[in-house]
Amino acid sequence: MLNRRNFLAAAVGVAAAGALTACAKSDAGSSTSSGGSDSGGSGGKAINLGFSQVGSESGWRTANSDSVKEAAKEAGYTLKFSDAQQKQENQISAIRSYIAQKVDVIAFSPVVVTGWDAVLKEARTAKIPVVLTDRSVETSDESLYVTLVGSDFTAEGERAAVILEKVLATAGHKGEVKIAQLEGTTGAAPAIERAKGFKTVMDRQHKDDWKIVVSQTGDFTRAGGKQVMAAFLQSNPDINVLFAHNDDMAIGAIQAIEAAGKKPGKDILIVSIDGVKDGFVAMSEGKINAIVECNPLLGPQLMDVVKKVHAGEKVERWIKTEESDYTQDQAKAALPNRKY
Ligand code: AHR
Repeated sequence: MLNRRNFLAAAVGVAAAGALTACAKSDAGSSTSSGGSDSGGSGGKAINLGFSQVGSESGWRTANSDSVKEAAKEAGYTLKFSDAQQKQENQISAIRSYIAQKVDVIAFSPVVVTGWDAVLKEARTAKIPVVLTDRSVETSDESLYVTLVGSDFTAEGERAAVILEKVLATAGHKGEVKIAQLEGTTGAAPAIERAKGFKTVMDRQHKDDWKIVVSQTGDFTRAGGKQVMAAFLQSNPDINVLFAHNDDMAIGAIQAIEAAGKKPGKDILIVSIDGVKDGFVAMSEGKINAIVECNPLLGPQLMDVVKKVHAGEKVERWIKTEESDYTQDQAKAALPNRKY
């Protein structure tokens, strides 16, 4: 566990402000907003938070961005927000610009897991604590970030496999289970860990009857899901299950399945992850069979952690999100209460 005092003690040197200012100019899609009356900081000064978002690739991401912006406003922070359009180089530029601007805390949701050491070391040199949100990173030095606020993606993959067992039983499925997997962004934590979790359960419990016959990235987007599923159906017309790493790809895939003259949710059983409203609509129409929830409403938890980190308080190394699973029989009742 790491608190800000330890974090600051570990920090060395002073940031090269000139170089960082140059980087700041290349930061695309950024905006600044100030919060309400509660400063959130000590001594009446508003906490200055720099947040680098992955992009706007999915309904989940839109809900997550809205949650961060609303919670920052509610907490009275000054938020600098930038959308990296799913490009790591944009996120690195945004983080460098936040360092140059001497924000109090940097938070970001890393598009991929690797390649962050250099910029995280720059943040440490500038004595700015970094909080990860939603996705994790792989670093040579784990003390380069203070904490992660987000889901357990491996558990989500495991839950998807367990709920698929129920879906197959409900459908009365007999015989081989030929699975198509639509993966998230290559190299992203949710893509790696969801695939791993699903495979762990499959290898342990269904080595003989389940097979992933085709697997490719749809980049977490509807367009990607549609395009890749159309290709899957051409190369493997006997697929009878789709495991999509998010609802948006599942919704795109549904369009491809229907275009191929098949019935989503019947000819091809579908399990996806997220639980956005459109996913619930598809589930209540019988087109998605089950959804494993991944909660995007991380804003309030994140602001709470940022406040503690800024004040030098101890925080957990991983603050996990609480989530549920849903099947078709629960979809209609749950739909009106979906917040995103
Ligand atoms: O990191 C969370 C994932 O990213 C969500 O499942 C997906 O919809 C988003 O794009």
